[in-house]
Amino acid sequence: MIGMLSRSIRAGATHTQRLCALNWTTLRNKKLVRGYVVPPATLHLLEDCLELHYRGSRMHLDYVWLRDHCRSDSSFNFKTNQRNLDTGSIDLNIRPDHTKLEDDHLIITWPGGHTSNYSLCWLAENSYEGKKQSTIQPRILWNADIYNNSHVASSKWDTFMSSDDELKMFLQNYLLYGIAFVDDVPATVEATEAVTQRVSLIRETTYGRMWCFTSDFSRGDTAYSQLGLDRHTDTTYFHEPCGIQVFHCLKHEGTGGRNLLVDGFYAAETVRLQSPEHFDLLSHVPIRHEFVESDDGHHNHMIGIGPILNTYPWNNEVYLIRYNNYDRSVINTIPHNVVRRWYVAHRQLTMELRRPENELWIKLTPGKVIFIDNWRVMHGREAFTGVRQLCGCYLSRDDVLSKARGFGLQA
Ligand SMILES: [Fe+2]
Repeated sequence: MIGMLSRSIRAGATHTQRLCALNWTTLRNKKLVRGYVVPPATLHLLEDCLELHYRGSRMHLDYVWLRDHCRSDSSFNFKTNQRNLDTGSIDLNIRPDHTKLEDDHLIITWPGGHTSNYSLCWLAENSYEGKKQSTIQPRILWNADIYNNSHVASSKWDTFMSSDDELKMFLQNYLLYGIAFVDDVPATVEATEAVTQRVSLIRETTYGRMWCFTSDFSRGDTAYSQLGLDRHTDTTYFHEPCGIQVFHCLKHEGTGGRNLLVDGFYAAETVRLQSPEHFDLLSHVPIRHEFVESDDGHHNHMIGIGPILNTYPWNNEVYLIRYNNYDRSVINTIPHNVVRRWYVAHRQLTMELRRPENELWIKLTPGKVIFIDNWRVMHGREAFTGVRQLCGCYLSRDDVLSKARGFGLQA
């Protein structure tokens, strides 16, 4: 059910794309869409806002907001895409002197004579009502079957390093599924660094710029052992957890050590569908994660505070899951009459994350580099024997998404 839902999101255009496509169809068909006459846009000036009916949508546009979003040359710098207007200078009781609709544009004359001109498509896309109906980042949510049946192609090192089309396809897969692979990468730290820099800037942390894992307990973290690791996201103890995790297994002579991947958003959507009250608790109650390390070489004390599920308030879309039972700290941010309900909600999410059908197990081998959306997809591993050397790094989420937008991808 969730897979179907997400596929429909993938196939769906944004609200404005739908509106503008409708506009084009309407013109071509002489104002007829499926036999109905599309009514013209209409305006109503209310006490504190302008009500605009356009292509089946009703929008409420606050007068101060309209003046603040004027796109005249004196109000906005189109070379830098920055606002010129001093918002602090707008009269908070401002009202238009005159309004009119002309050629799918809204034209407002303000007290003092300044004129603003807005395309109705732009208003539809940027209104609250428009944003409420649109998805920030289309995704395909998955369990093991959905992912395996999607047959998502891996990129190959040679083409990945030289072809922008290949990089764009990789980023599209990454955005949709939260994981993406590059194969045939030379099994060195240097090549791993090169392949990650093709995608984005590396985010340096207390673990270094590029790190190498071995089971030598060189750091105060279970990851530096041969033990199995349950599913989790990393750096939950940062206020902004690292956006992307990169792994490359350079060598493993031994048994076990498969990696586990679980789509946290798939589990979160299941909780939302089955128990909205649990979803609400998990997305509003803030909790702490903490990392304390003190030895001869390293002294760290990190604290990150936030809910398990982070959603955009206007459309309730999940954009970050912060889930790490190892690093979750003392719960002292929830009153006693809520904490049991929070544990019940947390248990439901945990059960969804632990369903065998939601687990994607992969064996990382030298040459295969995986990129994981650390704000969405959990990772873990089974215990292993022998020498296993893993290298990788974190990437900045902002920079990866910026690169994707540069290719025209919705992110
Ligand atoms: Fe981890």
